[in-house]
Amino acid sequence: MLESSSANDLETLSAKLLESIAQAADLAALDQARVEAVGKKGALTQRMKMLGGMDPEARRAAGQALNLIKLEVEAAIATRQDELGRAALAARLAAERIDVTLPAAPEAEGHIHPISQTMEELIQIFAEMGFTVAEGPEIESDFNNFTALNIPPEHPARQMHDTFYLSPDADGAARVLRTHTSPVQVRTMLSQKPPIRIIAPGRTYRSDYDMTHTPMFHQVEGLVIDESTHMGHLRGCLTEFLRAFFQIDDLPLRFRPSFFPFTEPSAEVDIGCSRKGGQLKLGNHGDWLEILGCGMVHPKVLEMCGIDSTRYQGFAFGMGIERIAMLKYGIPDLRTFFEADTRWLKHYGFSFLDQPSLGLGLTR
Ligand code: DAH
Repeated sequence: MLESSSANDLETLSAKLLESIAQAADLAALDQARVEAVGKKGALTQRMKMLGGMDPEARRAAGQALNLIKLEVEAAIATRQDELGRAALAARLAAERIDVTLPAAPEAEGHIHPISQTMEELIQIFAEMGFTVAEGPEIESDFNNFTALNIPPEHPARQMHDTFYLSPDADGAARVLRTHTSPVQVRTMLSQKPPIRIIAPGRTYRSDYDMTHTPMFHQVEGLVIDESTHMGHLRGCLTEFLRAFFQIDDLPLRFRPSFFPFTEPSAEVDIGCSRKGGQLKLGNHGDWLEILGCGMVHPKVLEMCGIDSTRYQGFAFGMGIERIAMLKYGIPDLRTFFEADTRWLKHYGFSFLDQPSLGLGLTR
C-alpha cells in the first residue's frame, strides 16, 4: 500500500519536474528548475537521502525508480538547454541582420598632415641612399642634448637654444625638452658600432613663438660614420636629397662656412631661388636661401660617444621639417601647422589615394 502510493507520488513528482524543465523560458529559469530537481536540496536529492532509512527491498525498488527519474530529468535538461541555445542564436542572428542593400552612410575623408607627408618623403629618399631611421626621446638628458655635442655648461651656444628646462631626474641629472634632434646622434653612437648611416626625424622644442617659430617643431638629423667618409660625400648626399625632395634636377647648392660646436668644419647650405616680385621660387635663379646646417662630426663628439676619432670620421646634418615643407608646398605661416584647423588640413593635406611620387625617382 505504502509502496504503490509512493510509486504514484514519484510519478507525480517526475511529471512536475519534467514540466518545469520543459516550461523554462530561458537559461536562468532552466537552471532554477535543475536546482529544484537535482540540486543539493532538490526534490530528487532529498528523496535519495531518505533511501538509507528504508528496508532493503523497498530501498532497491525506490532507488531504481529514483535513478530512472534522475536520468530522465537530466536528459530533459540537456534537451531544453539545447533548444534555448538555438532559440537565442536565432534571435541574435535576426537582430544582427544587415541589409546590404541600404545606401552607405557618407564618411568624411581624412587628410595626411603636411608634416607626416614630408617625413614620409624624406625617409623614402634617404632609405634609397641606405639610411635607416633612428629615434630618441623628446625628454633628454642635458648631457645628450648639449654636453656630448661639445656644448659644455656655460657655453654661449646654449643661449641660442631657448631651452625648456625640466626638473632633474631621480639621479639628479639635468633634463630638457630636446632643442634639436642632434642628441639622437649621441644615442646612436653610444649604442652602435660604425659604420653608421641614420636619419632621425622627430619633434623638438624651443621657447619661441612668431610667424617662423613655434615652441614645438620638427627636425631631421642625419649621421654617417665610417672610416673614409669625407666632405665630398656630405655634399653629394645633400645635393641628391635636396634635388629629389624639391623635384628640381638642377637645383644649385651653396656650402657656406659656418660654426656648430659639434662639427668641424661646419657649413650652412643654401639652395638657389628667386625672390622677384616678392614671390619665392626655388631653382637656378641666382639668389640664395638658407636651408640647413651640416659638417664633419667633431672629433671631441666622437670621443665623448666612445668612437675612436683616429680611425672613424663622418658627417652630420640637421634641418627643419616645417621649413622644407613650407617651401615645397607653398605654406606661408608656420603656426598654421599646429592650429588643428580641418579646413587648413583639407587644403594643404594629402589624400591617402593620391600620393605624389616619393623617393629618388629611381623605381618609378
Ligand atoms: N642641431 C642644429 C640646430 O638645431 C642643426 C644641425 C647643424 C645639426 C649641423 C647637425 C649639424 O647635425 O651637423 O640648429
